[in-house]
Amino acid sequence: MKNVAVIGYGVVGSGTVELFEKNRESISHKVERDCDIKYIVDLRDFPDSPFADKMIKDFSVVLNDDEIEVVAEVIGGIEPAYTYTKQALERGKSVVTSNKELVANKGAELLKIAHENNCNYLFEASVGGGIPIIRPLNKCLAGNAIEQISGILNGTTNFILTKMIREQLDFDSALKLAQELGYAEKDPTADIEGHDACRKICILGSLAYGKHIYPQNVHCSGISAITLDDVAYAESAGYAIKLIGSVKPAENGRVSAIVCPRFVSKSNMLSTVDGVYNAISVTGDGVGDVLFYGQGAGKLPTASAVVGDIIDCLKHKNRSLMISWNDCDDENYIVKYKTVKTSIYVRINAENADELKASISEMFGKLTYIERKNRPDDELAFITPTMVESEIDVKLAELSHSARIESKIRLL
Ligand code: HSE
Repeated sequence: MKNVAVIGYGVVGSGTVELFEKNRESISHKVERDCDIKYIVDLRDFPDSPFADKMIKDFSVVLNDDEIEVVAEVIGGIEPAYTYTKQALERGKSVVTSNKELVANKGAELLKIAHENNCNYLFEASVGGGIPIIRPLNKCLAGNAIEQISGILNGTTNFILTKMIREQLDFDSALKLAQELGYAEKDPTADIEGHDACRKICILGSLAYGKHIYPQNVHCSGISAITLDDVAYAESAGYAIKLIGSVKPAENGRVSAIVCPRFVSKSNMLSTVDGVYNAISVTGDGVGDVLFYGQGAGKLPTASAVVGDIIDCLKHKNRSLMISWNDCDDENYIVKYKTVKTSIYVRINAENADELKASISEMFGKLTYIERKNRPDDELAFITPTMVESEIDVKLAELSHSARIESKIRLL
């Protein structure tokens, strides 16, 4: 049967078609019936593609074809992906996707539509590319209360930070290299400002805690302000700087979620995850700590997750796989990040900075000064004790009367 359609023939779409066609026989064997891709929908022309005979431009052909059971939406972005997904689900066709922006913004609604129409909306590829994390969280770890999830969820920023740490490239040069190698987009804002990682931690948090976490309610900061000086301080104090998305339960049924660069201790395995690789650490009250690691982006790794979802949908025709969470319009569901306890690395600039040490110590109580090679006289760096972030802000505001605050990075 020709029962699959792929919409979007970009990097992930072409990888999905390539992998599916390569392994079509074994996929048919797993599904216990013959399966094939019937349509590839894209507005562009691909006359030289070996799959040119499958190319169409009109999505309504897919919608109106009863043979199509599964649609792989790999267009990305909200529209037209949202409209197409809704239309397919309403016709009882399962949809699988790598589209984290759509899942993070419309997941609760689309999952509900899928459930009502006895089909499935699966999105393993939306977080961590080829790393299995959605299914493990939804199934294997379902018996646990999830105590925390934190991870390196963006390959582009991890590549840039790795180049800064290992080769002392400054941020702009590392970004340029990431673009030349095709990791970063031409407009890399969503990667470097943390929005991509934010969408992914929202998906994981929604799944783990059962209520939709919307990206606009999660504090998110990226890596563009990080300098080689910060990297040097981190290194000398036994940390690596990583962009981390994290989510955990808070008091009164709420959750705490944030995306920001962090000092990650060298004793934490996340500090050793380099290049475009991703890793996600999950702590459950039964299982303890588990770490998921692998290629978080790229054509075939992402296609691997998309094709896995297609197979699951084909195997469960007209049966809901029970993956869902509730919508949530309570703005207070996410605790205000400034009320959360944290410890922060601070780098300041002031004439004869060392002379400020006594007053800074008095301000914060027990704190740790850290060094770097060739630290100039007008620079000082320290790590605050763990305290509510807004209280740290008050003290830094006081300090800003006598020094310029150059950098603040939270510890993990
Ligand atoms: N831009 C993303 C990254 C692609 O760099 O991780 C995968 O979601």
